[in-house]
Amino acid sequence: MQYRLFLIVLPGLEDLALEELEAKCPSATEVAVTKGGIELSADLDWVVAAHCLLKLPTRILLRVQEFRVRDFPKLHQKLSAFKWNEVLSHPEPQWEVSCTRSRLMHTGRIEETIREALAAALQRQPLSLDWQKKNYSPQTFYVRIVDDNLTLSLDLTGEPLYKRGHQKIKGEAPLRENLASAFLMDLFRGIPEDVVLIDPMCGSATFLTEALDFHRPLHFRSFAFETAPFFKGKLVRLPPTTRKLPVKRVLGFDRNGELLEKVAAESGLELRVSDALVDALNPGEEFVMICNPPYGERIKIAGQRGSFLRAAWEKFLSVDRPKRFGWVIPSDMDDLFRPSHGYRLLQERRLRNGGLAVTFRIWERIS
Ligand SMILES: C[S@@+](CC[C@H](N)C(=O)[O-])C[C@H]1O[C@@H](n2cnc3c(N)ncnc32)[C@H](O)[C@@H]1O
Repeated sequence: MQYRLFLIVLPGLEDLALEELEAKCPSATEVAVTKGGIELSADLDWVVAAHCLLKLPTRILLRVQEFRVRDFPKLHQKLSAFKWNEVLSHPEPQWEVSCTRSRLMHTGRIEETIREALAAALQRQPLSLDWQKKNYSPQTFYVRIVDDNLTLSLDLTGEPLYKRGHQKIKGEAPLRENLASAFLMDLFRGIPEDVVLIDPMCGSATFLTEALDFHRPLHFRSFAFETAPFFKGKLVRLPPTTRKLPVKRVLGFDRNGELLEKVAAESGLELRVSDALVDALNPGEEFVMICNPPYGERIKIAGQRGSFLRAAWEKFLSVDRPKRFGWVIPSDMDDLFRPSHGYRLLQERRLRNGGLAVTFRIWERIS
């Protein structure tokens, strides 16, 4: 059975999310990229694999119903006739309603009508009581009305996919895991042999864990689709894979020793207390470096943030000299970092990180 699905992707990462999908979960068909997501058709095995393997999407939705609607009686009639039993696992789901350029624009009244239609439907086709016995959480449905066309989608994921389920210790201003994975895809593209990966200001070590896990199926958490009637009883387990990013070893540095100790205890990673602007970080063999420095907003930095970031960047390129260096910085500082020290700019990607416009740049050593 094929399902119509939608992967929600952070705007600016759609091309990478497609590349990841084609590499790891290629059996999807009718794939179409839009701003903020990828639409496709696939079966339930694909849904399991995608949830455990894809590191870039935020969540995956199942398209449940699509119809044209311009008034409340029609909305009620369509949704009270719908076979909710096929998708519903809890009688009181949550609703995320949005409307654009449509006759029905009152989201509160739309939600009320949908709840009434669902209640009427459940009188005729009562729900299995599993949700009570097994203490299921309510599902979330997304209702989008655009130009009078309604799309009803079921969230298959639950907690967003960037919550991998194995890292509890977080420093200040941690990078979202899906952004870290996306930047690592860019950083390692075309690197022919295994190299050391260094993060000089690693905080919770998100880059390092994402680099090690990029191809690993993760089984540390549950997903919303596991309780859905069309899925119940099937197995969410994938075999381990031998695929990996070309990483020989990962090494993290940070000046916050207290945090590093906790992160190292939880993750088992090799982390060292160090001032990245002062200490030499070169591990004595070929390495690439990636860094999400403090921007001076949530994490304070001494002096002007521009001079701190400029000094760090200068030091990494002139003293440490990685093969490649990936750097996430606020876009309003773009003109501070021009190719120099025998490096060329390999790539630039602009997007928003927690509401802030940021640029991810990669420089490559040429001499
Ligand atoms: C934005 S956070 C990095 C977050 C990290 N990418 C994560 O996902 O958790 C910046 C980190 O830089 C560290 N830091 C700031 N100045 C530093 C310096 N001079 N040397 C080493 N680390 C520094 C801070 O302690 C903080 O953990």
